[in-house]
Amino acid sequence: MSEVVKLTIGEKTYELPVVLGSENEKGIDISKLRSSTGYITLDSGFMNTGSCQSAITFLDGEKGILSYRGYPIEDLAANSFFRETAYLLIYGQLPNQTQLDGFCNKIHSYSVLPEGIKRILDQFPIDAHPMGVASSVIAGLSAFYPEYLEGEMTPERKDNIMAQLLAQVKMIISYFYRRTKGLEEVAPSKDLTYAGDFLNMMFHQKGFTVDPEISKALDILLILHADHEQNCSTSTVRVVGSSKANLFAALASGIDALWGQLHGGANQAVLEMLETIQKNGGDHKKALAMAKDKNSNFRLMGFGHRVYKNFDPRAKIIKQACDTVLNRLGIHDPLLDIAKGLEEEALKDSYFIERSLYPNVDFYSGIIYRALGIPTNMFTAMFTLGRLPGWMAQWKEMTEDTATKIARPRQIYIGEQKRAFVPMNKR
Ligand code: SDX
Repeated sequence: MSEVVKLTIGEKTYELPVVLGSENEKGIDISKLRSSTGYITLDSGFMNTGSCQSAITFLDGEKGILSYRGYPIEDLAANSFFRETAYLLIYGQLPNQTQLDGFCNKIHSYSVLPEGIKRILDQFPIDAHPMGVASSVIAGLSAFYPEYLEGEMTPERKDNIMAQLLAQVKMIISYFYRRTKGLEEVAPSKDLTYAGDFLNMMFHQKGFTVDPEISKALDILLILHADHEQNCSTSTVRVVGSSKANLFAALASGIDALWGQLHGGANQAVLEMLETIQKNGGDHKKALAMAKDKNSNFRLMGFGHRVYKNFDPRAKIIKQACDTVLNRLGIHDPLLDIAKGLEEEALKDSYFIERSLYPNVDFYSGIIYRALGIPTNMFTAMFTLGRLPGWMAQWKEMTEDTATKIARPRQIYIGEQKRAFVPMNKR
């Protein structure tokens, strides 16, 4: 017998069904609440509200657990690579060799950018923020592929557009970077991993070779960023997609949401925060004091999370990858020491302990990007590259879910009640 909860309003008691997830999460189904009681719920920031049922990613914020399609993130980071994980997120199973080869070949087959897109990329000021460039250009792809704006999005067309975007987003980001350096674009290579190919497209010059260990570290970063259930940007992709807007538009909206400092933009903000602390003599205690001071707008960027009230499992893996990459490159980055000092102090501080504030995915990732030579203002574009398969997997699941309706939340109106119009000469 499935569980119900009882809601008593006045003299009447209502029974609301409970939905039980495969990891024993419970949700009260309120889909009939307004029609049966006249009440709606109110939940600013949707902190207690589930928007959908999904089989893609599972998070347990209390235990610091993250898994994609049932596979723990630690296992995927240790054993998988990005395109394989992308396949897993999108199609639900780890691919066999034939499926994986077909997926990689399909992605590579789309490794062309329309000349018109390159001309658009050439118009941006070279100091334009890469997230603004990516969002505009990815939405603009719809102008060059109108076939995706009409007709039914069959499974085959979904497969094609997702493979195309996995190929083209990597090209767009690297093309714009090279333009800012006055360098010619570099064509994708079939012989490199996704991460290795991206590094080659970014940094190839005479004598440049992709370091397999560095490429592996970036591959792990992309895996760790690949999906994270119903975060702000993924929810945005689902909301936009729920109106049957095309995938280019939905992804561009997701990129815009991710750009925010409280979300994916935090990785850039962390680096800027660490540089400020360094400039001020490296005194991280001052930064902690400011973060705790309610009168300052300062927040310890890269710390805290809506869901994780324990360690973000991704932060642990990225922190280890920092040491690997810096050692491999023979770099000592003082910002890493400042970051580690901040973490050590914060984890002993009652303000952070009481609020369960731990390092999140953005706290250490910028240290690696910086060591790879990626400009700070491109860090969130790197998050975009990693999150692309997750956004598309969630979009695909949403389009296939018969329960999907256009997202249209309600509100509680607190404005003026009915009043008569006032002519200008009486105002
Ligand atoms: C990502 O959702 C996802 O899954 C996102 C993500 C993904 O993979 O998609 O994991 C990626 O966005 C990671 C988060 C990156 N953002 C940051 O690092 C920015 C800094 N962190 C915060 O702004 C904050 O922790 C959030 C935005 C991440 C979460 O905010 P919440 O859940 O709305 O919590 P809150 O702002 O209500 O904070 C609760 C308390 C408050 O204090 P009190 O009012 O209770 O006294 O904790 C304090 C906050 O002031 N607090 C912080 C803090 N984060 C929260 N105080 C200082 N520094 C911080 N970083």
